[in-house]
Amino acid sequence: MFDEKYRPVHTACIQPDKFPQVALYMLSGTNLVLYKPADRPISVHDLKRLHNNQVEYLYVNSGSIREVCDFLETSITELMADDEIAAPVKGQLLSQVAMNYVMDVFEMPDKLSNLGRCRNLVRQLMQFITANQNPLEALHAIVSHDFYTFAHSVHVASLSMLIHAEVFGLAPDELEDVGVGGILHDVGMIFVPSGILEKSDILTNFEYNLIKKHAERGYECLRDLGGFSDISLAAVRYHHERNNGEGYPFQLAGDEIPRTAQVTAICDVFSALTSNRPYKKAMDKTEAIALMESVGKDVFSPRLLEKFKSVILPEGA
Ligand SMILES: [Fe+2]
Repeated sequence: MFDEKYRPVHTACIQPDKFPQVALYMLSGTNLVLYKPADRPISVHDLKRLHNNQVEYLYVNSGSIREVCDFLETSITELMADDEIAAPVKGQLLSQVAMNYVMDVFEMPDKLSNLGRCRNLVRQLMQFITANQNPLEALHAIVSHDFYTFAHSVHVASLSMLIHAEVFGLAPDELEDVGVGGILHDVGMIFVPSGILEKSDILTNFEYNLIKKHAERGYECLRDLGGFSDISLAAVRYHHERNNGEGYPFQLAGDEIPRTAQVTAICDVFSALTSNRPYKKAMDKTEAIALMESVGKDVFSPRLLEKFKSVILPEGA
């Protein structure tokens, strides 16, 4: 969707007097064009016009990515505490910062060793979701359906923390571990050749088997780095195991699969079904859960799926 040398920035993050003075680009058809050069400040009026034209993202080029990401990440605590900023905007800020993190570790896996950075982001996500009076509304605010891989990781982490908080009443430290596992659940994809991930034709068995290795490769990578908890590691390693024993890599069944991994699997599939992709439209929540209950009857633990449903569709719709 966008050239590797550019990175999207949600317009909610661009505050005229605070945002770094960098060149900004916008999408025109399938091309990126210069929206403003670095030396022209962006005004409130510009932002209003972008909003009226429903432009959600501007782009920064590779020369500015670091400066912009560092600015957002260092100011996120302050921004989240700012009463002047509306909750949905805070959700978008947080989503942007968390997506930046995921993009960073996919592009530069050595960044994975900074576990403190990951935990800090996960903590912010957790606080935003669980401290909100309406956690589902909060979750909605942080979910972007653009930039699929990165947004999906943030969505799975947030959903999984919400379920673990509401259903299992986990302590904050354990919730962070769940979030770290969720945000990095597909990190092993960095070891899959990009030609396979981008292939639009049907995959050969050989290629599919390479993709299937992402769960174990992601686990090995985090285990070798050290510092990741068993809860986080289990989410990464076992999120493709299935209740009926037909998953991978170990064909574990039922409660042989750690609970966090079972919940992560439900969140992973739910997030994929409810996201727009180039080849399919997003399902709504009710439809997605109905599909998971029928087709996925043996795929997920009925008990856990029921609990998931009780949080996502609280009115029992
Ligand atoms: Fe996966």
